Amino acid sequence: MLNQKATIMLNFDYRNPTHVVFGKDRIAELDQLVPENARVLITYGGGSVQRFGTLDKVKAALGNRTVFEFGGIEANPKYDTLIKAVEVARKENIDFLLAVGGGSVMDGTKFIALATQFDGDTASLLHHGFTPVPVANDKVIPLGVIATLPATGSEMNAFAVVSYQGGKFPVNHPCAYPTFAMLDPELTFSLPKIQVANGVVDAFVHVLEQYATYPVDARVQDRMAEGIMRTLIEIGPITVEEPTNYDARANLMWSATSALNGMIGTGVPLDWSTHMIGHELTALFHIDHAQTLAVVLPSLWRVLKEQKHAKLVQYAARVWDITEGDEASRVDQAIDKTEAFFKQVGLPVRLRDHGVTQEQLGLVVDALEAHGMTALSESGKVDLATSRKILDMAW
Ligand code: NZQ
Ligand code: ZN
Repeated sequence: MLNQKATIMLNFDYRNPTHVVFGKDRIAELDQLVPENARVLITYGGGSVQRFGTLDKVKAALGNRTVFEFGGIEANPKYDTLIKAVEVARKENIDFLLAVGGGSVMDGTKFIALATQFDGDTASLLHHGFTPVPVANDKVIPLGVIATLPATGSEMNAFAVVSYQGGKFPVNHPCAYPTFAMLDPELTFSLPKIQVANGVVDAFVHVLEQYATYPVDARVQDRMAEGIMRTLIEIGPITVEEPTNYDARANLMWSATSALNGMIGTGVPLDWSTHMIGHELTALFHIDHAQTLAVVLPSLWRVLKEQKHAKLVQYAARVWDITEGDEASRVDQAIDKTEAFFKQVGLPVRLRDHGVTQEQLGLVVDALEAHGMTALSESGKVDLATSRKILDMAW
């Protein structure tokens, strides 16, 4: 967390080892991507991959390899479920994990990869926040993913989010990058509309949490971020309404991956406050991840618009073409446009629309405090009182 304003691009290292396999009808190529003698554990969620035939195709492509299955990884994957998969992986000497599903399955599989050969208390892996977990590189089981929901970017990053004892905990390790990510837009045609809308908004907010801070003259990162956002604005409503429109879905898929594969976040200040507050809302009220973001982000900006002024003026001009009027009114218009975009794709933008009462907002603040989320944002100035203000405004 940065407390001091830098005005130049920050130093950075960037390495992303994931081999992206993008496009139609490529499942047969698993035969070249998964090691020939691997003992594979295929992981999946509540059954969509069975219902839509993907699992059968995956098993066929794996040929004579020794294959085990672990289904039932739920949305916002639970530690208790993942630990059952860890037991299977230990018992069967699994040496390759293949996740087939959305962010929850991909994240859950990363946790399985990290926990299986871990000697200590596996629950302790949840308490390292944004610091990599203390696991030796050769103790992480390699994993590949077949993404069926474009949203989280998990397919090309080293992060996972795991639910445990009423909280959601980020976990990461450089060896948790998938070795390959198969991205076939057609595998997403079966998604319910609301999950597509969730994906559009999650990707959009990922871009913004790496963009709407303060300027450091990072022109490439800014323009890539603006390009992804303009793409999402163009194709978001189309891809929600037209599930089999390949072009729109392909652009959603690559936008979502590009939003959180680390590239646009290099050398710039980051602000994951919307996500941190959102995670508490999911844990407490079971609101879908992206829907928490749609509620929190506009309110957070309304509270922090001075801190973020310069970038919000740039966002208004370059993403929404708002260049008339004084700067403060341009920022207000850009915030309103953002909120309207979330509504347009189909997500509620107020907490009360999710059945949360005003009395319950205190629970969110308590949870933030319990999880140490007391100095959020790029400034570190979002304390519990400011979070409360954001929640009040989001209600
Ligand atoms: O479980 P199944 O039956 O597969 O159904 C899923 C699930 O009900 C369904 N689905 C997925 N692909 C489908 C499909 N239904 C029909 N056709 C398909 N092709 O969609 C539902 C939601 O799936 P889920 O994986 O939970 O959604 P999403 O991809 O939005 O992932 C959300 C999780 O990712 C975490 C979130 O916190 C949350 O736990 N995040 C992970 C991040 C990361 N690793 O970098 C960053 C994100 O900010 C996020 O925090
Ligand atoms: Zn997210």
